[in-house]
Amino acid sequence: MHILGGTSDFFGLDMGVSAVRVVQLKGTGPTKTLDRYGQTPITGTVALSDSKADRQRIAQVIHELTTRVGISTKNVAANLPSSRVFTTVIDIDRLPPEELAKTISYQAESYIPTPLSQSKIDWAIIGNSPKDPGKIELLLSSVPNDFIERRLEILESIGLNVVAFEPDNMALVRAITSPDTAAPWLILDIGNAATDLVVVVGGMPHLARSIPMGQQAFVRAAIQGLGVDPSQAEQFVFKFGLSRDKLEGQVYDAIIGTIDGLVAEIEKSIKFFGERYRGAKLEGIVVTGGASTLPELPLYLANKFNLNVEIGNAWRNVNVPTERQNEVLAVSNHFAVAVGLAERET
Ligand SMILES: Nc1ncnc2c1ncn2[C@@H]1O[C@H](COP(=O)(O)OP(=O)(O)OP(=O)(O)O)[C@@H](O)[C@H]1O
Ligand SMILES: [Mg+2]
Repeated sequence: MHILGGTSDFFGLDMGVSAVRVVQLKGTGPTKTLDRYGQTPITGTVALSDSKADRQRIAQVIHELTTRVGISTKNVAANLPSSRVFTTVIDIDRLPPEELAKTISYQAESYIPTPLSQSKIDWAIIGNSPKDPGKIELLLSSVPNDFIERRLEILESIGLNVVAFEPDNMALVRAITSPDTAAPWLILDIGNAATDLVVVVGGMPHLARSIPMGQQAFVRAAIQGLGVDPSQAEQFVFKFGLSRDKLEGQVYDAIIGTIDGLVAEIEKSIKFFGERYRGAKLEGIVVTGGASTLPELPLYLANKFNLNVEIGNAWRNVNVPTERQNEVLAVSNHFAVAVGLAERET
């Protein structure tokens, strides 16, 4: 047991595609204070790989990172990448809690893509169903057991004790939004391999999906369109992004098709949300993730959807000592998931 105001007895861990990140908070009450954080870049496919060598490698990276940063606990709340988590919203009869759990496990099989016996499911009540007054709506998630088991094995192999696994999108929302915001916002984490999309209302996700497009897809388009090598393509993409007045718009021309592919997926989700919750209108879009920093991408999204686009601050619900504020804001785009995990109640 820890004393009031002490360091949290767990830390948040984000095993992302391009880096491993850790955050530990301290203090109690609704707003905790930053204690320690850090990241180690990784390359290739290590994070999602199932090979034994890659799993050992990532365990080693996590071990070195927690040691270097000075994480003071073995307890960890770890992420599950949205690409491996299936999330859906379902309507279900209004039932007393005991019966609800039973009914959900009976019915889950028909909603999730993997056999129930091979999946771990989890759910949260969103509220009244907008479709049927006799029902409530639930956010239902499922993850294949073997994926969880492999992650558990990685973490236990370096002596860590997993107190929670949480999908990226849930952690993201906790870090980036305020539970007091009643109006719906669209959150986008445009990462390395994928973009996580969540529509959040009052701190609760009402729609969540992972779109398999991110920095890698943009860079691939630039390699092809510009005929340059991968590292040059990456430089061009992050330097010029969607500005049409740079390099005669060549970078824009190379990547705009791919960006519009992402835009089309976002549009589908906005439409779906509007149809399910008749009359609900998005207040705006909050973007985060490494690839959200492409020049003029936020502006492009704002014009496409005619919505305000804000740059998310991963640390908005954390007290950060003044002298550390510049340093943490510089990495804000990469830390939402790790911060959100560290902000959990356990
Ligand atoms: N200025 C920049 N120049 C080059 N690359 C950049 C720049 N800014 C961000 N990036 C890229 O953004 C990516 C990291 O984004 P982010 O931290 O969101 O990814 P991730 O969390 O590891 O990925 P995922 O969420 O898909 O697991 C890296 O691949 C990094 O190379
Ligand atoms: Mg990420």
